[in-house]
Amino acid sequence: MQSADLAVRPVAPVLLGQRALVTGASSGIGRAIALALGAAGADVVVNYASQAGPAEAVATELRDLGRQAVAVRADVGREADVLALFEAARAHLGGLDILVANAGLQQDAPFHEMSLAQWQRVIDVNLTGQFLCCREAVREFRRRGLEPARSRALGKIVCVSSVHEVIPWAGHVNYAASKGGVMLMMKSIAQEYAREGIRVNSVAPGAIRTPINREAWDTPEAYARLLTLIPARRIGEPEDLARAVTWLVSDEADYVTGTTLVVDGGMTLYPGFEAGG
Ligand code: BGC
Repeated sequence: MQSADLAVRPVAPVLLGQRALVTGASSGIGRAIALALGAAGADVVVNYASQAGPAEAVATELRDLGRQAVAVRADVGREADVLALFEAARAHLGGLDILVANAGLQQDAPFHEMSLAQWQRVIDVNLTGQFLCCREAVREFRRRGLEPARSRALGKIVCVSSVHEVIPWAGHVNYAASKGGVMLMMKSIAQEYAREGIRVNSVAPGAIRTPINREAWDTPEAYARLLTLIPARRIGEPEDLARAVTWLVSDEADYVTGTTLVVDGGMTLYPGFEAGG
């Protein structure tokens, strides 16, 4: 299997003094984002739903980098949990400058067999969870007020969406619906708060090597099939996303709001048209 040399390299501490909350940060893309924000200087709340051990390990790695970090359990689909999560962020870090709404899951089924519980759970975590976290983040940014020494922005939010905010996905109707919802939720929040200096964007990962899609890459046959969907001819690594998010939440991206940064090796470029059409 081909993979790029994507180890986290030393980066300029462009987020020094900023405080970030990353949901779903015990593994996969969320973990890589939490570590990258820490490497860029941020203190981090590492949220997890069930994997306390791995989340604590991420927090320890961040502290080893010299950052403040704490692991906090919360199911983002539950309002009481989200309120407590933001309370913990305030208590541990004294405030918040960055939210990365990453927590998400899949519960796949053919549409005619999909239960209401499968539909509801995915919408609860992937869409309602992002709504609840974004709302609390906006409230927290407005409560704190602008601190130009920290950042030009009043606050930054990145929603972790998916290429399936635009690519329909048979067998995953709940998931595609949740990500399509994230797209217009993100843009609408961005429109509402741009004048206050809150920047809201999404990243849309394609196929990234994480536990959520293991069956798409962990055998040579599956990996070969997957590559037919990726013009760049490699699977993405969590660090591909982490670098994009680090840029989006930095002042380097100060004029960027309401956009989806697609990080997919070209998956959304209609790869079937590479030859023909
Ligand atoms: C899904 C993965 C999938 C990828 C590309 C992601 O949003 O979570 O399971 O491999 O999209 O289809």
